[in-house]
Amino acid sequence: MSRVEKAIRIDQHGGPELMRLVDVELGEPGPGEVRIRHMACGLNYIDIYQRSGVYPMPMPLTLGMEGAGVIEAVGEGVGHLAVGDRAAYASQPPGAYCTARVMPARAVVRLPDEITFETGAAMMLKGLTVQYLLRRTLPQGGLNAGDFVLFHAAAGGVGLIACQWAKALGLQLIATAGSDEKCQLALDAGAAHAINYRREDFAARVREITGGRGVKVAYDSVGKDTFEGSLNSLAPFGLLASFGNASGKVPPFDTGALAARGSLYLTRPTLFTHLATRESAQEMADELFAVVLAGQVKIHVERRYPLAEVAQAHRDLEARTTVGSGVLLV
Ligand SMILES: NC(=O)c1ccc[n+]([C@@H]2O[C@H](COP(=O)([O-])OP(=O)(O)OC[C@H]3O[C@@H](n4cnc5c(N)ncnc54)[C@H](OP(=O)(O)O)[C@@H]3O)[C@@H](O)[C@H]2O)c1
Repeated sequence: MSRVEKAIRIDQHGGPELMRLVDVELGEPGPGEVRIRHMACGLNYIDIYQRSGVYPMPMPLTLGMEGAGVIEAVGEGVGHLAVGDRAAYASQPPGAYCTARVMPARAVVRLPDEITFETGAAMMLKGLTVQYLLRRTLPQGGLNAGDFVLFHAAAGGVGLIACQWAKALGLQLIATAGSDEKCQLALDAGAAHAINYRREDFAARVREITGGRGVKVAYDSVGKDTFEGSLNSLAPFGLLASFGNASGKVPPFDTGALAARGSLYLTRPTLFTHLATRESAQEMADELFAVVLAGQVKIHVERRYPLAEVAQAHRDLEARTTVGSGVLLV
């Protein structure tokens, strides 16, 4: 049986105005798949890269990588979900901006009853990202309580979760953000220090804060504008985790820059490598749910948009006017 649902589609890369609400036909889940009816969908910066063409994508494309809702049908071989389960995910392929979808079950997990659909949709992609960054993307010897880490865009969706989770781990997170108000939000969320990087040379301030030594790891999702400053903020043998490009892609660079600053390490990680197996996805989600249910990490759902108003949601995110997470209500 096929049914008609609503989805946000693009036919080519470009601006927010290209996103259209269309009817789509939905079928039954195949082996390893589920059909989920969304209650809310997450808004993420990756949606902007995929819409604009920073990440080239096959067309036509339904955007969106994160959602929460109720399982409506389960395909062959799916043992961890049942019809009627509350569920949430961050997952490839894109396709979350819709009322319901058929998708791989691998990264879909049961959502604890205490967590609302709205919070679920706001926390999976961003929270699982913080999980793999702070728990799995570590400098040589790991991180210990009291260590300094640098985290850019710390008042954003990923950033506010990182401030709280770092504090819970006993880390001294040095936040950067684009306004004094955003810096205050990062401090309120648990950052030990905050730097307005539109006004100040953040690498120089990091040296001051760390007594000249630098940080063990810099988590950099801003990309082009902060890459060099992030390298300049690291202690010898430090790690730069370059995990996003909100200001543009990092241009090709001379690996000698790593040697000159003291045998640095560089990685360009993506959440989806970590979510490649069902076991890993569940383990990461369990850890995320635990810190949320314990109240150590609160999810800041700051903006809600109807599905049909997704263009405004993208404009707001690109204009750097948002803090915390935003969701699309279905
Ligand atoms: N690799 C991965 O696995 C992975 C997974 C999830 C997210 N990410 C990355 O993590 C970052 C945060 O994602 P998010 O969804 O939570 O978004 P977000 O942080 O809520 O929004 C992006 C923020 O980036 C900052 N920014 C700096 N320069 C910018 C520019 N030129 N244009 C626009 N924004 C700029 C802005 O904060 P300020 O005003 O404070 O500078 C803006 O609010 C994104 O870069 C995303 O791609 C990567």
